[in-house]
Amino acid sequence: MGLLLKAALFLPLVVYVLEYLRANYLHNLYIFDHEKLQAISQRVIAENEGANSTALLKKVHVALKEEYGDYINDWDDSEWVFNNAGNAMGSMIVLHTSVTEYLIFFGTAVGTEGHTGTHFADDYFTILYGEQLAAYASSQQPDIYYPGDVHYLPAWRNQQYRMPQDSWALELAQGYIPAMLPFGMIETFTSTFDVYSFGKTVKISAREMFKNLLRGKI
Ligand SMILES: *[C@@H]1O[C@H](CO)[C@@H](O)[C@H](O)[C@H]1NC(C)=O
Repeated sequence: MGLLLKAALFLPLVVYVLEYLRANYLHNLYIFDHEKLQAISQRVIAENEGANSTALLKKVHVALKEEYGDYINDWDDSEWVFNNAGNAMGSMIVLHTSVTEYLIFFGTAVGTEGHTGTHFADDYFTILYGEQLAAYASSQQPDIYYPGDVHYLPAWRNQQYRMPQDSWALELAQGYIPAMLPFGMIETFTSTFDVYSFGKTVKISAREMFKNLLRGKI
């Protein structure tokens, strides 16, 4: 039997086992709690009415550091990086990445629209500023999320989404993070050729996963 055929027969089994582990056990490795992140976001939004998005993100970052300490990176404007995925384009800054979780600010100054991607992880997208529209294929009208709302996208589900200009979110993904990276990077090779952003994303992701592994955060 050819190696490719063997791999093709084996893959569904591997995915099935990994999915079983994810659904039943992986949460034991998580340190972030999406409800707590939403509560922190809502509090900071309420305390900073009228603040622009730049100021608001920094306030949310301070509040996250108070709650999660060293698991949250220090603020560094030079770590903002473009992300092209699912035909959408935005900017992100990594607050935490480990093998089972990432926490980032994601958004767009200009506005964007695209596909959410299909992920081996649950995604909690808390709107901080602006808004997001999202819909399943069966919907004729979008769900609209405003500051303080969480847009929850379960693993394996797909939506179309749009964020108008100056919209920003705190995004928590929990699951198999390395399996999400191809979605976030492949457009470098199919369209953008933005090897600078690709290299920066690889560097930051690897650095963060390694740093967290060293202190026992998988
Ligand atoms: C956003 O708000 C901060 C703090 O008030 C201010 O320093 C900054 O200039 C503002 N930025 C813009 C683009 O308005």
